[in-house]
Amino acid sequence: NKLEMELEAIEKGGYEHFMLKEINEQPKSIADCMRGRLDAKNGRLVLGGLRDYMNKFQNADRIIITACGTSWHAGLVAEYLFEEFARIPVEVEYASEFRYRNPVISEKDFVIAISQSGETADTLAAIELAKSKGATIFGVCNVVGSSIARATHAGCYTHAGPEIGVASTKAFTAQISVLTMMALMLGYQRGTLTESKYVQLLNELEGIPAKVERALTMNDNVEKIAAIYKDSRNFLYLGRGYNFPVALEGALKLKEISYIHAEGYPAAEMKHGPIALIDEEMPVVFIATKDTSYEKVVSNIQEVKARKGKIIAVVTEGDTVVRGMADHVLEVPDTAEAFVPLLSVIPLQQLSYHIAVMRGCNVDQPRNLAKSVTVE
Ligand code: AGP
Repeated sequence: NKLEMELEAIEKGGYEHFMLKEINEQPKSIADCMRGRLDAKNGRLVLGGLRDYMNKFQNADRIIITACGTSWHAGLVAEYLFEEFARIPVEVEYASEFRYRNPVISEKDFVIAISQSGETADTLAAIELAKSKGATIFGVCNVVGSSIARATHAGCYTHAGPEIGVASTKAFTAQISVLTMMALMLGYQRGTLTESKYVQLLNELEGIPAKVERALTMNDNVEKIAAIYKDSRNFLYLGRGYNFPVALEGALKLKEISYIHAEGYPAAEMKHGPIALIDEEMPVVFIATKDTSYEKVVSNIQEVKARKGKIIAVVTEGDTVVRGMADHVLEVPDTAEAFVPLLSVIPLQQLSYHIAVMRGCNVDQPRNLAKSVTVE
């Protein structure tokens, strides 16, 4: 037992919890994910697993993405990526719904299944269903040789390294990294992304690990904010566009490990319901980075402020407008709009972590949850 404890301490690499270690590993895990695949200097992107299926991918009528939980959130980010860069319609499906819905699937569909563990029962069943209808199935998995990796026609590993904490962090950013590379490749091949734009984006993507490193330096500020709101009973997370899935992910992280009720919403949907919840007791986390919906999110922030909600905002470095309105701001470096989730999710992971620790929760093994859900 003592030996086990010592071994675990070594595995945690000096961190108090696996989750914190995994959050902090992200500059490296994202770089590992892109290593040998992305070569921005020479304008090259290679995904070995896609080679034999590039034709099918390029000519697909539709891309269907299926997954559960955090992996489903990565799928939502990919919907924006594929549609923006490759102009192919995308549907993102909860595996548990998809498998029981008698969905319309054909040989012209390209199905992407996303799973950290590669063992999620619902995702596996969704794959088998789509396969039986003749679709091509592509896996984005972290665990090498896992059931999902074996059940798919082809795939691309995320190479994030073992993720021990039940709350997924580095696997999520590695999934998005793979899906981003897939979307850029697809857009370039289909001609929906110009050569110059493609090369520019490849260069920006290569710089993401360093920017994640910078985003992580907000940790002390995050900890102070956590101390203020740790006893809140509810949280609202709002974002738009690429940051809408990030809002969902931030809320999921908080509820999983701190047991605080949290909801993620597209910021513009607030006026259709959730705005009724806002009072001085309600912390609202806005992801308000400088992108195409920035102005609109700013007006949502004003609406929350007018109702005395407490505002925690994730903003782009140097932002002064939101800083003047929010109770707290957390800065992330500027990047291409499509790559923002890789940065904006970082302070949200840290926020959930610190709140959970301050509440005395078992961060790495929250109650009622398993790392891989092998039952339906
Ligand atoms: C993430 O923090 C959760 N523990 C959970 O939602 C998870 O993402 C989901 O169960 C899917 O797991 P998978 O990626 O291993 O398939």
